Amino acid sequence: MELTYRPRRLRRTTALRSMVQEHSVHASDFIYPLFIHEGAEVQPIGAMPGANRWTLDTVVGEVTRAWNLGVRCVVLFPKIDEELKTEEGEECFNEKGLIPRAIRRLKTELPEMAIMTDVALDPYSLDGHDGIVSSEGVVLNDETVSQLCKQAIVQAAAGADLIGPSDMMDGRVGAIREALDEEGYENVGIISYTAKYSSAYYGPFREALDSAPRAINNSKPIPKDKNTYQMNPANAREAITEAQLDEQEGSDILMVKPGLAYLDIIYRLRQESELPIAAYNVSGEYSMIKAAALQGWIDEKSVVLETLLSFKRAGADLILTYHACDAAEWLNDK
Ligand code: PBG
Repeated sequence: MELTYRPRRLRRTTALRSMVQEHSVHASDFIYPLFIHEGAEVQPIGAMPGANRWTLDTVVGEVTRAWNLGVRCVVLFPKIDEELKTEEGEECFNEKGLIPRAIRRLKTELPEMAIMTDVALDPYSLDGHDGIVSSEGVVLNDETVSQLCKQAIVQAAAGADLIGPSDMMDGRVGAIREALDEEGYENVGIISYTAKYSSAYYGPFREALDSAPRAINNSKPIPKDKNTYQMNPANAREAITEAQLDEQEGSDILMVKPGLAYLDIIYRLRQESELPIAAYNVSGEYSMIKAAALQGWIDEKSVVLETLLSFKRAGADLILTYHACDAAEWLNDK
């Protein structure tokens, strides 16, 4: 054939391929999510092979391992003891609570590692919702936001670098920004869960924290899902509205969650905003890969690295991923 242009010319050797490679993944792109609990033993999480609930003593070792592999940020999620859960989730702003203690410990032992926190009531709520549920079964917006501001301040006081509101209440980014500034934490950043969809991919995470919506409280109706605050998976334009609001309200980084089924949303936000964008490669996405790999049906390493690359190609700068340490190790091997 007489072809002027043969795209395969640039695919011929490893050297040529690496010269024209458009995107790549680095350990410093990762934010590593870790579960912690009050217990004395490390507990494996059934639905997330390879992930654990760490204790305060053992999480330091895991974070050090991540640091040595090149990971530069971790995000902490607490499994709260049942007896500390209340309807309004007050434990979320206990300055001696699990999260503030973990942050202080990590900041003492590994001061350079960036620490991100999650702001929402669900791990602390008897009802398993991100906000306060009224006696009519409505998740209250403004009342919840004032709890979240207190939670953010306690996390900032403990030394958090980035506060991550994951609750999807309206106006929470602006309110948290103002509360942090008033308390003198103007240098603490906000990484907002900007486009957070009401997704079935969060299932394994809710198992890890025992935080799913539930009706153990018979005095009021409890919504079974989070559809009145998390976004409808059918909507894309609405993500742009959320991004514009978060930007106006002072978010430093925008996040899309889940990641894989929402690559189009990452791509669209990349066109709309100049802020850094993070993708959350959530628990269900992790578990699907792990399950297939354990069956021998897919090659875990290749599938993980290809998946992570897809977030970068879509336009994400950062990736929250439970694969962080494995992927960092594989990238270092290359
Ligand atoms: C809490 C929160 C959730 C996740 C992160 N923060 C669960 C939810 O909204 O129900 C999910 C993360 C994952 O699935 O990996 N608001």
